[in-house]
Amino acid sequence: MPKIKIAPSILSADLKKINQEIKEVEKYADLIHVDIMDGIFVPPATVDAKFVKTIKTKVPLDVHLMVHEPSNSYIKGFIDAGAYSITIHEEACLNPLKQIDFIKKNKIRTAISIKPKTPLERIKKYLDMVDMILVMTVEPGWAGQKFITSTIPKIMELRKLKPKLDIEVDGGINPYTARIAYDEGANVFVAGTSIFGKKDRIAAIKEILNILNQSS
Ligand code: DX5
Ligand code: ZN
Repeated sequence: MPKIKIAPSILSADLKKINQEIKEVEKYADLIHVDIMDGIFVPPATVDAKFVKTIKTKVPLDVHLMVHEPSNSYIKGFIDAGAYSITIHEEACLNPLKQIDFIKKNKIRTAISIKPKTPLERIKKYLDMVDMILVMTVEPGWAGQKFITSTIPKIMELRKLKPKLDIEVDGGINPYTARIAYDEGANVFVAGTSIFGKKDRIAAIKEILNILNQSS
């Protein structure tokens, strides 16, 4: 199984002091998860590439595009803003190959995501092309939702198919649900509320790591 990675999601951070917020978690974060919502694929709209450019950190930026049919120039905006990886949604793109090819051509990490109700079948053809699969464990759009347990079999099947691929889970991740997802094969854990919602963010990350490192 690939290395465990913790990705605090800035959706739950105070965006007015984003660099200060990131500084607090930097030491224990493997990735910083940046949610981009367009108000079309998901109802809310969030920050854009211009905002991402203002983020100053050495931690790689994991950009999650909850965006309908992102164009090459739109994606390029995030690459120029410093993205380390870009995740698109299968459901948001007419032919995700177009976006996957473009991201790969730009030599950054490429990922594809599926919503809780989207079957794994829909992305099987991309598994050999991408660096990571994001299995959404809540309906995309909002922080603070409850982990949807019916997503678990997808994680398990994916891990069987791809023993070395990064499998990311996003939504409702706390120490307890992280462990459930980990036991099924997930290795990249996005957490918003359970990290930035806490006063002591480092203690919150350590709590997740401790549970993941416990033998089963
Ligand atoms: C939801 C976003 C998540 C969100 C997770 O659509 O993709 O990254 O920030 O928030 P929590 O961890 O609070 O569920
Ligand atoms: Zn996300």
